[in-house]
Amino acid sequence: MTMPDCFTTIIEPFKIKTVEPIRLTSRGERINLLEEAGYNLFRLASADVLIDLLTDSGTGAMSSEQWAGMMRGDEAYAGSSSFFRFEKAIKELTGFQNVIPTHQGRAAERILFSITSGQGKVIPGNHHFDTTRANIEATGAEALDLPCPEAADPSVPAPFKGNIDLDRLEALLRQQAQRVPMCIMTITDNTGGGQPVSLRNLREARALLDRYGIPLIIDAARFAENAMFVKMREHGQAGRSPREIACEQFSYAEGCIMSAKKDGIANIGGFLALNNDGWAEKARQNLILTEGFTTYGGLAGRDLEAIAQGLEEVLHEDYLRYRLRSAEYLGAGLRTAGIPIVEPPGGHAVYIDARAMLPHIPPELLPGQALSCALYIEGGVRSVEIGTVMFGRTHPKTGKQVAADKDLVRLALPRRVYTQSHVDYVIEVAGCLAQNRMSIRGYRIVSEPSALRHFSAVFAPVDPRLDM
Ligand code: F0G
Repeated sequence: MTMPDCFTTIIEPFKIKTVEPIRLTSRGERINLLEEAGYNLFRLASADVLIDLLTDSGTGAMSSEQWAGMMRGDEAYAGSSSFFRFEKAIKELTGFQNVIPTHQGRAAERILFSITSGQGKVIPGNHHFDTTRANIEATGAEALDLPCPEAADPSVPAPFKGNIDLDRLEALLRQQAQRVPMCIMTITDNTGGGQPVSLRNLREARALLDRYGIPLIIDAARFAENAMFVKMREHGQAGRSPREIACEQFSYAEGCIMSAKKDGIANIGGFLALNNDGWAEKARQNLILTEGFTTYGGLAGRDLEAIAQGLEEVLHEDYLRYRLRSAEYLGAGLRTAGIPIVEPPGGHAVYIDARAMLPHIPPELLPGQALSCALYIEGGVRSVEIGTVMFGRTHPKTGKQVAADKDLVRLALPRRVYTQSHVDYVIEVAGCLAQNRMSIRGYRIVSEPSALRHFSAVFAPVDPRLDM
């Protein structure tokens, strides 16, 4: 018998050395726990969650080499050898001349925008992540999303739904280039469903910005997943390594902001990397004032080691193939169960279209919140609502909910943490909910804070007798 030299099953490309037990809970227990948490999944203790898909940020499992690096961490206040390893890894990957460590991505955002933006400025991008938008707006500047037209319909698959709309970017620059200090390209586009940006779109954006002398900055949180999508989907890229593609991505930019909690596979950390020495000097002054000295930012030496090693491991092709395959597998399972998702599945997450799945729950009764609560009650699965709770608001006069554009529920996959049987379980739970979808009821908001309400609002299920 001849054996195939290439099997199609994509295995987790690691063995498990340390395990963390999952505490099993019953459906009855979870009903009580959720009620105590005010039906807000952010208020649950993680020990009460079976499969935690709230975020892929800072939740990855580190490798034995990363843990070894943690032991080697040099905790010197200034000139730590761990910083030099971190700086070398980032310079080799990105080519940027100035590397500034920060405690996480949003600190890099705050520093960058506070030294470059302000009242009257506008910062365009493919699709700003919410902390990026908030940090731009905190300076008084405007954050402008210019997603490509394909991004508008969640049900239609397209290879590069993270691309920026170059026509709209050009129109903006033609009219008001003097207001634009930079353009941000978020790779992959988290807010839009973990969708990638093509090399071609980056190259063309760069050429357009060059005509106006405006720098392109990359939000690199998931740069490696983006590079692997390019390898798999973009014409002529299949034969290149993810590292080569990643280097090309960075070559179109003048700098980057990075949350190392994603594709750095670290539990904490981030950085700002810039070619512009003037900006870098101002950023270092701000860093010393708010984060820490220039060779550690807000981090310990051991964190810098973990990130340097993580940035190397994340570009291994077998890892990235497994990584993207995991999200695709989850997406395919949900699709087969008749659950509408944002197509195609993203690199780090699958987004369920809760509004389409639960058409009997109007947006004012928070279908995304209803689905995420049901996923927890039925299976102990924690997800996050990205819809009217996160982006809508309570109308000050009527007290009614002003709906967001979409009501999505994100199932984000932590890196190297869950196995295929965990994913099979999630598919089974969601499938069971899909079959009984008419029994899922809407929610109302009982109390909410003045800003970022999704983190701490209290909800209550709508009494089924009221909406007969
Ligand atoms: N940029 C992107 C694209 C992100 O997804 C995030 C965080 C940040 C910047 C901010 O980085 O958390 O290190 O300060 N995203 C997390 C998430 C919170 O769950 O998607 P941070």
